Amino acid sequence: MKKALTMVALAWAAVCAPAQADEKSMQEALARWEQRMAEYDAALSVAQTDEQKAAIAHPDGADVAEALWKSISTKTGERDELVEPTNEERMRGAKAEMRKVPAYAFEETWAAPAVFWFINRPQQLARLYANKPRQLSFFADALIKSIDKRHYNSPAIAESCAKLAESPYFIKKPESGAYRLEHSIRVARIAGAIAKAEGFDEEAMIIAGLLHDVSYCREFDEDGWKNHGRDAARIARPFLEELGLGVETVNEICYGIAIHVDDEADFEGERTAFALTVGDADNIDRFDAYRLYETLENAGYSKLSAAEKKAHVDRTLERLEEYADLPFATGEASRLWRERLSVYRDFYIRLRQQLEMSIGYCERDSEPEVGAPEMNENLLGLAGHF
Ligand SMILES: [Fe+2]
Repeated sequence: MKKALTMVALAWAAVCAPAQADEKSMQEALARWEQRMAEYDAALSVAQTDEQKAAIAHPDGADVAEALWKSISTKTGERDELVEPTNEERMRGAKAEMRKVPAYAFEETWAAPAVFWFINRPQQLARLYANKPRQLSFFADALIKSIDKRHYNSPAIAESCAKLAESPYFIKKPESGAYRLEHSIRVARIAGAIAKAEGFDEEAMIIAGLLHDVSYCREFDEDGWKNHGRDAARIARPFLEELGLGVETVNEICYGIAIHVDDEADFEGERTAFALTVGDADNIDRFDAYRLYETLENAGYSKLSAAEKKAHVDRTLERLEEYADLPFATGEASRLWRERLSVYRDFYIRLRQQLEMSIGYCERDSEPEVGAPEMNENLLGLAGHF
C-alpha cells in the first residue's frame, strides 16, 4: 500500500522512513494552544464594546500547526529559509540571510487535502476539538497513520482515509493522481479566494474545493467520470459530518461537489452561489497556464503540419469566444474567469500571428481547407451548469 502513497513525497528531494507520531509533542502543542485560546476567551469576556472585541485578535495557530505537522510527518532533509532582519537589526546594517531548517513531508497522498486544510486552518480544527485534545491528537494521528488501525477513534475518517489510500486510479496513473491532488489544492485556493471576496464561509469553501474530486480515489466504471461529482459527495459526507460542520453546511458542500460535473445531484439541495462556486473554481483552474500547455501536448501540437496547427488554433479561439460571457455564480468568479480566459486568448492570438508569419501563410486564403485534429473536449471543455 505504501507504494501508492509516495506521490507527495516524490516532490521532495529525499525520502526518509516515516517518523513515529509523537504523542507527547502533540499534547504539548495542544496544551499551548488551549492556553492561548483560554487567554483569548478571557480577553473577550471582559471586552465591553464591539470595537474592543474586534480589537482582540484571534490567536494565530500557525506554530501549533507546525508543531503538530512535525509530530506526525516525515522529516525529509533540510531546506533554505529566508530570515529577514528586524527593523532594529536592519538599522545596524544587517541583511536578510538564508538558513537551513528541517523539511517535513507527508508520504500519504490521501492526507494531502485534509492536511492542507488542517495546516491552514488550525483554529478551526482546534475549535472543533476544543475540549477534546486527545481526540484531536487521534485525528491528527489518523491523518498520517491510516494504516495503523489501532489509532482510529473515528470509523468515518478511517473509512475516508482508507479509500483514498487504496486508490486504484493513483496506483495506475501516478502522474494523473498527482495532477488531481495539485488541481484539488488549486481549486481549494480559488474557491477560498472567491469565498473571501463574496463573504461566504471561507473554510467550508476550501474544504469543498479540496474534496470536489475525491472520487478519483476509485477506479471509474463506464459512467465513472460523469458520476464523479455525486460519488465524491457520497465519500465526503461522512468525513464532513465527522468534522462537525453542521447539517446545512455539510449538505451545501456536498451539493456543490455533487453538481460540479453535470449539474445534477442525487439528493435534495439548493443551487446556491456557494454550491455553484465549487464548479466555478474547478472551471477557472481548467483554463490557466497548465491546462493550456496540456491541451497543446495532448493534441501533439509540435508534430502537426503547419496547416493543422493553424486549424487547431482557429478552432480553439472560436471555442474561447463562446466561453467569453458564461454566467458564473458570483462577480468574483466572473472576474477571475475573464482574467484567465484573456491569458488563453492572448496566447492563441499570438500563436496565430506567429503561424501567419510562417512560410506558406501569406496566401492562406487560397489554401485548401484543413481540418483541425480532433478536439479533446475534456481539456477544452467546461463542466457544471454551463
Ligand atoms: Fe471534477
